[in-house]
Amino acid sequence: GGVTTIDPGYKNTGSCESAITFLNGEEGILRYRGYSIEELAEKADFLEVAYLLIFGELPTQQQLDKFNEDIKEQSVVDDDVKKILDAFPKSAHPMGVLSSLTSALTAFNPSSVNVDSEEDMYNTVCKIMGKFPVLVAWTMRKKKGMPLSYGDSSLGYVENILNMMFSKPNETYKQSDILVNALDKLLILHADHEQNCSTSTVRIVGSAHTGLFASLSSGISALWGPLHGGANQAVLEMLEAIKEDGGDTKKFMAKAKDKNDPFRLMGFGHRVYKNFDPRAKIIKVAADEVLGDLGVEDPVLDIAKGLAAEALSDEYFVKRKLYPNVDFYSGIIYRAMGIPVEMFTVMFALGRLPGWIAQWKEMRNRKEPIGRPRQIYIGENLRDFKSIENR
Ligand code: CMC
Repeated sequence: GGVTTIDPGYKNTGSCESAITFLNGEEGILRYRGYSIEELAEKADFLEVAYLLIFGELPTQQQLDKFNEDIKEQSVVDDDVKKILDAFPKSAHPMGVLSSLTSALTAFNPSSVNVDSEEDMYNTVCKIMGKFPVLVAWTMRKKKGMPLSYGDSSLGYVENILNMMFSKPNETYKQSDILVNALDKLLILHADHEQNCSTSTVRIVGSAHTGLFASLSSGISALWGPLHGGANQAVLEMLEAIKEDGGDTKKFMAKAKDKNDPFRLMGFGHRVYKNFDPRAKIIKVAADEVLGDLGVEDPVLDIAKGLAAEALSDEYFVKRKLYPNVDFYSGIIYRAMGIPVEMFTVMFALGRLPGWIAQWKEMRNRKEPIGRPRQIYIGENLRDFKSIENR
């Protein structure tokens, strides 16, 4: 073996070659398969972007229709999964529930681990694209004590997600175009982000030839953390806390800068973006539009804008190149949609699903070796065993 060097947090270590997402953190550029995130958010819908990420090219109408049909075909979840869902207390965090249910899907779909032929891979992809939104919706409905629903499969993919989440028994749910478009955009913006913590997790778990669903379950667990996807929940809780406290943003800025205080400004900073997060730019505009269109006045949006303006002109944040990230404004839109705060990170997972799938598939197709980093041992040298009475 060669010389092992340590790179905590893998700040400068590449783990793979990838043809999926291009990211330039200095210039704030993000592209999926060569298409700019700005253009995709504007012109594509989420299912098209999912197809693009997973299969490498934008689908023709025929390919898209087939993908949609095949996903619908696979969207039924074994009824016994409800028993597992039932066993969770209502207080359970939805990310833990979702991770468990996603892993459990393997038991109900054992053939999903066969991905050696392109056809098997395609079927496994359609299965999870179909069943995952159902698990998301059920997780939320269970928490709210609402009967489980499959929504209306004649609707579009994103439209039916809202339907599955919000439809009431004996009532035709009419989702507004504003919400469908906003959710479409949010999901696209979250769909992939190269080798972040959860994606690296999905790839490394899959590198042991673990099945897709179990690998995704690990990715969901990684995403849960407040430094990663969990930040969107943490942002809203922080903004609420600032509001409750009387709205003094300066006080919280001071806390964030105090090195003896563990508090960080949630939704600020990024490992790779050092100028701006292009996703945050788009989401900020979308937040204004959605709230405007819905006629919602949310004082928390004003606090968020105030905080961002202060941070952008504050020496501490400027010096460390800390800017609002994707999670800073997304929660404000989710809240306007009526999504409970504990579900925010689940919505992130829903968006990231195609990215995780694409990265996992790429790793398998390229026959990457099992992920197995090295270490530098800093423990005791060889010593004699001490019998228990002598310790
Ligand atoms: N508030 C206050 N100080 C910060 C913050 C923040 N949000 N983020 C970084 N810093 C400081 C940090 O204390 C350090 O200061 P110093 O050089 O004096 O020790 C410096 O900036 C560099 O930070 P780091 O922790 O070494 O940077 P990192 O690349 O390891 O961490 C991060 C990146 C995103 C985890 C971090 O910025 C953070 O914790 N942000 C808040 C959580 C958040 O919003 N996460 C969502 C990220 S975007 C979506 C996603 O990935 O899911």
